[in-house]
Amino acid sequence: MNRYRIYYSGKLLIILRFSLFSIVKQFPDLLQNMPAALQNISKYYEQPGSGIRNIVLNQISLTVSEGDSIAIIGPSGSGKSTLLNILGTLDKPSSGKVFLDGADVHSLTECHLATIRNQMIGFVFQLHHLLPQLTLIENVLLPLFPVRDKTFRKDAVERAHHLIERVALTGQIHHLPAQLSVGECQRAAVVRALINKPSLLLADEPTGSLDAEHARDLGRLFAELNLEYNLAVVVVTHSLELAEQMGKTYRLNSGKLNLTARS
Ligand SMILES: Nc1ncnc2c1ncn2[C@@H]1O[C@H](COP(=O)(O)OP(=O)(O)OP(=O)(O)O)[C@@H](O)[C@H]1O
Ligand SMILES: [Mg+2]
Repeated sequence: MNRYRIYYSGKLLIILRFSLFSIVKQFPDLLQNMPAALQNISKYYEQPGSGIRNIVLNQISLTVSEGDSIAIIGPSGSGKSTLLNILGTLDKPSSGKVFLDGADVHSLTECHLATIRNQMIGFVFQLHHLLPQLTLIENVLLPLFPVRDKTFRKDAVERAHHLIERVALTGQIHHLPAQLSVGECQRAAVVRALINKPSLLLADEPTGSLDAEHARDLGRLFAELNLEYNLAVVVVTHSLELAEQMGKTYRLNSGKLNLTARS
């Protein structure tokens, strides 16, 4: 009797696992609550000639879930930008896996990966990288260039105006970057990063060129966007104040990433 029970329970388990697998395959949205993940990532550079390896990242794993806000701190040269670029698929690891929206990026074609990256990730860098010949609104709308969906484009223009108002730049909408302050340019760069409704915002030293007050404002904006839009935010920073505005802080040192305790 027991043998029959074990046999049928085993069969039921296999059927359930198979059904779950088909559901997830049919509806990849189910995996979208995990915008990005790194699994046992290592990155090294070989010194030309000597073959000596400089190991920057050593077997690092990190899961970024929907609504997470994460700061990554660590000494200069510890690999923070390298880690962020790998997470954003701008750089490739020497070994390990990177997942974006539930998909192993290694299995995607360059073209498919570029589309997913453009749709789901917003990038903000230390320097705003606004194009000097375009106005604020033109810069903000630039990531829409490859988007063909007319409804999405129309909604995005409305979203742009709403976000520009939100960061108090409505009066400067037709200004060129040269007519904006550094803090204003950085806020415009944040709006540009959000225009395609990403589920993940990656920022590398976004407050590096701002004064204390503007840095605090930007940190507050990230925290608000994270809460309001359930946007996952990963910020690389040297500023402990900015790190404290995020939900979790990791320290990168000697190739390893460790969650830090909050006091
Ligand atoms: N293309 C490359 N070739 C060789 N070494 C590199 C390359 N890119 C980065 N590195 C090295 O990798 C290490 C990590 O660099 P990375 O820029 O990620 O550090 P970081 O933590 O962001 O530093 P910072 O806080 O100064 O921005 C450094 O030692 C750097 O010299
Ligand atoms: Mg860096």
